[in-house]
Amino acid sequence: MASIKIRVRSSERYDGVLNAPHRAFLRSIGLTDEDLAKPLMAVVAAWSEAGPCNIHTLQLATYVKEGIKAGGGAPLTVPTIVVNDNIGMGTEGMRYSLVSRDVIADTVEAQINAHAFDGFVGIGGCDKTTPGLLMAMARLNIPSVYLYGGSAEPGFYGGRKLTIEDVHEAIGAYLAGKIGEEELYNIELNAHPTYGTCAGMFTANTMAAMAEALGMALPGSATPPATSARRVIYARETGLALMKVAELGIKPRDVMTYEAFENAIAVLMATGGSTNAILHLLAIAYEAGVKLTLDDFDRVSRRVPYIAALRPGGDFVPAELDQVGGIPLIMSKLLKAGLINGKVITVTGKTLEENLREFKIPNVKHDHMVKDPSTPIKPWGGIRILKGSLAPEGAVVKVAATGIMRFEGKARPFNGEEETFQAIKRGEVKPGDVVVIRYEGPKGGPGMPEMLRVTSAIVGAGLGQDVALVTDGRFSGATRGLMVGHVAPEAAVGGPIAVVEDGDRVIIDVENGRLDLAVPEDEVKRRLSRWQPPPPRYRSGLLAKYASLVTSASMGAVTLPRI
Ligand code: FES
Repeated sequence: MASIKIRVRSSERYDGVLNAPHRAFLRSIGLTDEDLAKPLMAVVAAWSEAGPCNIHTLQLATYVKEGIKAGGGAPLTVPTIVVNDNIGMGTEGMRYSLVSRDVIADTVEAQINAHAFDGFVGIGGCDKTTPGLLMAMARLNIPSVYLYGGSAEPGFYGGRKLTIEDVHEAIGAYLAGKIGEEELYNIELNAHPTYGTCAGMFTANTMAAMAEALGMALPGSATPPATSARRVIYARETGLALMKVAELGIKPRDVMTYEAFENAIAVLMATGGSTNAILHLLAIAYEAGVKLTLDDFDRVSRRVPYIAALRPGGDFVPAELDQVGGIPLIMSKLLKAGLINGKVITVTGKTLEENLREFKIPNVKHDHMVKDPSTPIKPWGGIRILKGSLAPEGAVVKVAATGIMRFEGKARPFNGEEETFQAIKRGEVKPGDVVVIRYEGPKGGPGMPEMLRVTSAIVGAGLGQDVALVTDGRFSGATRGLMVGHVAPEAAVGGPIAVVEDGDRVIIDVENGRLDLAVPEDEVKRRLSRWQPPPPRYRSGLLAKYASLVTSASMGAVTLPRI
């Protein structure tokens, strides 16, 4: 039986004579006197049938509840929303994706506080669900543990291993006349063969790895696929772990410390994970009260090598990484090389070092997929931060997915993703061009839509090595090629990206961390003095509200109250 000290919040709401009406409602859903004396724990399931990523989380919630009951708690499942990135991609729907992260954090806060839960497990899947849940955990700072729903298995067709990224790139190949409709159809049929999130080391799998690296999820729980029976075991154990952290008095801010964020960034760099993790880690850190900046990412990326050949940078998917030891294998290597801090506390109640010592890493060959830091794939991290006259606050480039370290080319500015996609379709983007997509930032988009349709069209058309892209929007974790995103300040608030003109020279210098517009400073100032912000895309509803509250990408695009 769990001790009474955990029932701090529920005791105030449900104990005593005057709380009879509150208890009456819990009795009406089947709770007994015995249940009412237990800590009231929520299982927050980011659940939706509108896509494969989170369709199974309600089922997982039943196993989490078993664990919570076994640990002496009274569990109730509550939902939160899911916006499916792949289904919104390239459409207005994508503007709701990043917005949904903050909506998730807010809906969790509302339910946990309104019903006086003593703690909760959050079950995530699709891209924004994991950061949204972790933001809520950091914000509420009550006992919490994260559980990932797992990714889909990769597909196979014609001897090729497929993920959803291949369907997007097949569209580019189709538009360029390189494959026919039947081939495209066969790729579509086979690319995502089971439920679960996108199979590559794209944003969902990256964020699951971040949750584990931060110490907020059980060791090894990021990589078993959604269809694995080990998901059920992890679900039960996560419920038990919640009761244990509650007993021990371990709260999310004890776990998500500055050192834990540094560890997570190291894993991000070592695995060549999604650039979106930068936005999300900044936002989670903000909620945890940890001062994390883009400079921290830059510093870690310069010292942590890229060691895991995962898609889109390499050829393996996290389900394959799982077979050789998952995230604990990566972290063990980083710990041994002195690149992460093993002393941090985690939701097991133990330190990271203790967890890694106890985790059974299979004794199988893994060098084809995961290298040692002493013999890495690349000597620096998979993501770099750029700054310069085109991005005074910063920009993000993923170098794991490209070998190009410097690119100088002619600017081809477009106001929005659709305009760009049509130009690529018409064959107007040529080798040597730097495609600049603006007014797609947090405020301008709004919601920083991902440019996967555009980046895949560039790669699919065979221009991946010859064309670079610079945007104040985001990229999908599946993006390949030389793509610079998160340019801040964004165009909608008058960042220099707003006044790039056709034919300007743009220099991307990854080695030296620079993103520059080769236009004299005076000329940029003159252009900016004549610049007028375009009318907002939305004047009512969620997107308008979001645009009025959201901050810069360099701050994680968190929404801040106007008070
Ligand atoms: Fe949900 Fe990719 S669309 S994880």
